[in-house]
Amino acid sequence: MLKIDHLETMQGNFSLDIENVTFHKGVNIILGPNGSGKSTLLKGMLGYGGNHLLSREITYHGSALGEVSGIMSFLPQENPRFRIRTGEYLIMTASADKATKERMAEIIRRFHISHLLGRSIEELSGGEFKRVQCAQIALEDKPVIMIDEIEQGLDLRHQHEMMKWLKKEGRKKIVITTMHEAQLAMTYGDTITLLQAGHAEGPLPAAQVTSGQLSECYNIRLTMERHKNAVSIYHTPL
Ligand SMILES: Nc1ncnc2c1ncn2[C@@H]1O[C@H](COP(=O)(O)OP(=O)(O)OP(=O)(O)O)[C@@H](O)[C@H]1O
Ligand SMILES: [Mg+2]
Repeated sequence: MLKIDHLETMQGNFSLDIENVTFHKGVNIILGPNGSGKSTLLKGMLGYGGNHLLSREITYHGSALGEVSGIMSFLPQENPRFRIRTGEYLIMTASADKATKERMAEIIRRFHISHLLGRSIEELSGGEFKRVQCAQIALEDKPVIMIDEIEQGLDLRHQHEMMKWLKKEGRKKIVITTMHEAQLAMTYGDTITLLQAGHAEGPLPAAQVTSGQLSECYNIRLTMERHKNAVSIYHTPL
């Protein structure tokens, strides 16, 4: 259980003020318009933010969360690239134990990246790089996974594959990811947190989120329909 008792940041005219938000095991998705504070929230939870970070009271299983590197994997929205072979990049942040090495083949298969291992990460396409970064996180195998915009850059197939991977990880880990693809979020998410101008509503069970809540969050009229294994959301102009 990861609980934000209070997280407050102030950057320019924008302030984020979050209180009493608790994430449990499962896929916890943060939705919100551009500039609503999704990235700021994730970075604030990690303790990044310098002078902008005014308050950070977070507990992990009841103990104050200080240093996070042993607990959390983080994939930021923008990640700089440098000249390194994909295979080396992949294991750069993982532990060198035997179990990790044994899991590597399975992870390389799952993320469809075997053909990329000999190439420099500078040369990869946006979605190929994203898959390598997610594979790196899978290898790290930490109990909390935080990803800023999981679906960014991924083709349709890999968007679904990635959400299935998160769903699997969510059985034993706390997964927190921001997204823009609300249909995917509603289909795969266990909880949804709606962020608007630095304030959070939720986490709400995904099954309970309404069209009205989504419409209000994005300031556009939306209709959501739930099907057996999927959710569709469309814009309904007046
Ligand atoms: N270093 C900074 N200085 C001043 N303002 C900042 C800084 N970083 C972010 N902001 C502002 O804070 C607000 C929230 O930014 P944030 O990146 O968290 O939004 P977001 O919800 O992740 O948006 P997006 O969907 O576009 O990624 C925005 O208005 C942004 O312009
Ligand atoms: Mg962002």
